[in-house]
Amino acid sequence: MGTGTGRMASVLRGACMVGTMALLAACTRHGHEGYARYRTNCGICHHGGEGMKGEIPPVSGRVDKIASTPEGRQYLMHVLLNGLNGPLQIDGVRYNFSMPPFRAHLSDEEIASILTYLATRGDTRPAPVFRAADVAAERAHPMTTTMVAEERRRLDAIHPLP
Ligand code: HEC
Repeated sequence: MGTGTGRMASVLRGACMVGTMALLAACTRHGHEGYARYRTNCGICHHGGEGMKGEIPPVSGRVDKIASTPEGRQYLMHVLLNGLNGPLQIDGVRYNFSMPPFRAHLSDEEIASILTYLATRGDTRPAPVFRAADVAAERAHPMTTTMVAEERRRLDAIHPLP
């Protein structure tokens, strides 16, 4: 009886450990997928996140701050889904190129994982998290690249963007 209970307890402990490890693996995989997807889809322009002064805005250290308000989160999802056609001013530098929409190329889950990954590249703790359902809700309202730029101007007036 004593050994039976002991064996049962150790089986349960084993199961918990496997459970925890699977969860950890899933979390790491999510972060890793966001990074891999960023590199394939965004890295060609935004590079490691630092962008290119005067041409491509930096995203590292900024996405977490923009995502600190509900309006900012929406704006970020709008940029990825619908693209953006400036002009913009960031940290005293002007940008006026255009970013293509990704709605036809990336799923809700892919966009959520990329934004979640970028949000970890800043000082905000805990880093904001994006979910596929959040992206799905924004996908339902298509916008032009110019509309997204107008939204950015309105947002910047209420919550000055980094
Ligand atoms: C073809 C080049 C290109 C690609 C690919 C691209 N971007 Fe952009 N991105 C830009 C440009 C250019 C801008 C600024 C547009 C402007 O000047 O109006 C921009 C703007 C942004 C902004 C808004 C920054 C702000 O301050 O408002 C975010 C966020 C962003 N990109 C993230 C991404 C992510 C994430 C991906 C990958 C899914 C991506 N971009 C892919 C060129 C690109």
